[in-house]
Amino acid sequence: MGAVTLENVSFAYEGAEEAKVLQGIDLDIRPGEFVSIIGANGSGKTTLCNAIRGFAPKFFKGEFAGRVLINGRDIADEEIGELAKEIGFVFQNPFTQMSGTARTVYDELAFGLGNLGLPRDEIIARVDEMVQLARLQDLVDRNPFQLSGGQQQRVALSSILVMAQDILVIDEPTSQLDPQSTDDVFELIERMKGQGRTIVLVEHKMEHVAAFSDRVVLMDAGRIVDVGTPREIFANPRTAAIGTRLPQALTIARQLEQVGIRFEVSPLTTDELVGQLEPRMVR
Ligand SMILES: Nc1ncnc2c1ncn2[C@@H]1O[C@H](COP(=O)(O)OP(=O)(O)OP(=O)(O)O)[C@@H](O)[C@H]1O
Ligand SMILES: [Mg+2]
Repeated sequence: MGAVTLENVSFAYEGAEEAKVLQGIDLDIRPGEFVSIIGANGSGKTTLCNAIRGFAPKFFKGEFAGRVLINGRDIADEEIGELAKEIGFVFQNPFTQMSGTARTVYDELAFGLGNLGLPRDEIIARVDEMVQLARLQDLVDRNPFQLSGGQQQRVALSSILVMAQDILVIDEPTSQLDPQSTDDVFELIERMKGQGRTIVLVEHKMEHVAAFSDRVVLMDAGRIVDVGTPREIFANPRTAAIGTRLPQALTIARQLEQVGIRFEVSPLTTDELVGQLEPRMVR
């Protein structure tokens, strides 16, 4: 049984019914799997996340068709509140993630756990652990609304991860982060996967997509045009042709191929690139 299953899902926003934003989406994500969704701006990645949330069509008006199953249950029959115990969502815009009532980052992290009615001791233990894991020690006393975009993004992600749901849908968690913070966030997400959680990630940083994903879903104009391992997806010439950036190591390899250097395997990381070039170098 899939953790997240979409069956022939289509969606068009109200007022734009002629332009389907999702078209015939079939996708089955296994428990514990790390799946990245890539594709150009406007290809439908966030709308797909919203479909998994049950927000399209429950909150966004429009024409919805198909079925979305979470742990085998059709979300059309589920209360959003019940769903929230099994699946956590990190929105593309961290500002919209904030509770709006917490006066400190610490309280922001505790907010969702308080809503779950957990005992105070457990809330403190879990928030303290999250602060360590996400390296938020310097921010805990700050007002969530007086943070930089990148700081707010790290707090928004942490405020969901602390809830410890089995399934995480994370929409561009690193869009405002510098390289070091991006690496930190991927380390954190990798740790969540290590705990057996299912990860659905929307991300434009292809080096990280290539390094961490079990499978990559490529979207174009509301359709899934390819699903496969990172190597299958990035090595396929169609991926670059529809406007997706490639991992840098692969871009370099492609350029070297233009001057006659052949690669046995498409390198996705600089280590893989160097590994294949090094034996051919003259010293
Ligand atoms: N609330 C809305 N009402 C009407 N159309 C919308 C709405 N939200 C998104 N769209 C349209 O749906 C399409 C898909 O948008 P979506 O936000 O899902 O794309 P995306 O792949 O997440 O893009 P990005 O990489 O920019 O985040 C776009 O054409 C967009 O203009
Ligand atoms: Mg988006």
